[in-house]
Amino acid sequence: MKVVGIDFQAAQTERALALAAERGVANVRFEVASVYDLPFPDAAFDAAFANTVVQHLAEPHRALREMRLVLKPGGVVGIADSEHSATVWEPRTPLITAALDLFLRVVAHHGGDGHRARHHRRLLLEAGFARPVATATLGNFGAWGTPEDTRLIAAWFADQLRAPAIAALALAQGWVDQATLEAMAAEVLAWGERPDAFAVVMGVAALGWAEATTSPTATSSYPTASGPQHHVVGRRGRPRSWPKKPRLCGHRA
Ligand SMILES: C[S@@+](CC[C@H](N)C(=O)[O-])C[C@H]1O[C@@H](n2cnc3c(N)ncnc32)[C@H](O)[C@@H]1O
Repeated sequence: MKVVGIDFQAAQTERALALAAERGVANVRFEVASVYDLPFPDAAFDAAFANTVVQHLAEPHRALREMRLVLKPGGVVGIADSEHSATVWEPRTPLITAALDLFLRVVAHHGGDGHRARHHRRLLLEAGFARPVATATLGNFGAWGTPEDTRLIAAWFADQLRAPAIAALALAQGWVDQATLEAMAAEVLAWGERPDAFAVVMGVAALGWAEATTSPTATSSYPTASGPQHHVVGRRGRPRSWPKKPRLCGHRA
């Protein structure tokens, strides 16, 4: 089996390459590419998987249709994302609630949706996949209830709050000031040390099949932060002009 991993940020593919080398995974290569314009022939793959990507996309249908095109007839697509409507974070102070809201606000600003995963089956159907099935897990994306785990997720969250992907945008938009951002990060780190800290982020994973008889619905009414998506876009010959902005990234690489 041969695997090709893509991400539109070179830093991500470089990180993935290093991880594959470290783990002795030899059947994978990586390319910098957009999921909206995959640099592969049609019907090239048996399976395609997007892990915590679809929730960040401004045009999820377009991405799924593109993935469908590179699948062989009978090929399977998998999408996995966190669903934040079920996030548990206890004990929860007002500052921690504000930090969690800020995170989702940044995702929405880029056209993503932290509450999109609940629509995965529908998204797959609308993109032309057959027989979509979905499930939800708590363990996959995270349940943190030991001192090591709460410290780990708190450190990740505090890093995210301080990283440019959130901090620079949130400050530039006037959503928060530097002192509040720092206070949020400090509070999250302090939460990670609490003996009663407990957090859960639900993960939704869905599968669909690219059958020759199914085709994408011409339009879709799935609502996103940037408005309804009505895209059926030819995939060849378009300029590669995907945005260069860094995106928020999952804590489970
Ligand atoms: C939360 S991270 C997940 C990374 C990786 N899939 C994982 O599971 O660790 C989301 C990733 O989606 C990538 N991304 C966002 N929009 C993309 C696009 N249009 N094409 C390719 N990658 C994209 C970002 O660069 C980022 O690395």
